Amino acid sequence: MTLVERDKAVIWHPYTQMKNALPNIPIVRGEGAHLYDENGKKYIDAVSSWWVNIHGHSHPYIAEKVAEQLKVLEHVIFAGFTHEPAVLLAERLLPLLPGKQEKVFYSDNGSTAVEVAIKMCLQYWANTSPNPRKKIIAFKDAYHGDTFGAMSVSGRSIFTDPFKSLLFDVEFIDLPNAQNIVQLKSKINYLSNEVACFIFEPRVLGAGGMLMYE
Ligand SMILES: Cc1ncc(COP(=O)(O)O)c(C=O)c1O
Repeated sequence: MTLVERDKAVIWHPYTQMKNALPNIPIVRGEGAHLYDENGKKYIDAVSSWWVNIHGHSHPYIAEKVAEQLKVLEHVIFAGFTHEPAVLLAERLLPLLPGKQEKVFYSDNGSTAVEVAIKMCLQYWANTSPNPRKKIIAFKDAYHGDTFGAMSVSGRSIFTDPFKSLLFDVEFIDLPNAQNIVQLKSKINYLSNEVACFIFEPRVLGAGGMLMYE
């Protein structure tokens, strides 16, 4: 069996209707902006692994550092334990972040980071107020991931339809522009005493359709 046939026999791919999907491209190697399939055909990874591969594939420095670390300590439970790479990363990240960010909480991926952020905001209000705020504001066509909280704060679509009765209510607002900014501000002011948090992608709604705003 070819790799593509073996894949089809055992794997479901994300964001893919498996009944009518085109055969997946069998990638065996990556280097910089390029990917290579099993026949040696070269592709430009213009998708950049859905925008996250900013340093290119198989970057020699990253590969070396990951391999070095794996030989020393690959993982340790983070409740009750710590390790230097985690502390060092937090120390380096904090000065780069805007505002008065003082602490880092590590999560696994985009969707669970969104869950954590929403939970932190709701817990903040639960801890500090006898009548905790619960309303969440989000942009209409936003995409924040595929876990239940992340789907709830995202635009509704064919991908969220089967779960819609289980998603929580969110106050969706339009992307700001010169025409609607006054109206948007007054809506936000009106809601402000109830709002626990506002989740947004700064400047551009990526998966929502590359919608730019200021
Ligand atoms: C803005 C944004 N938030 C969250 C996610 C979800 O990230 P992940 O796929 O790592 O769960 C994505 C994924 O494309 C995204 O574009």
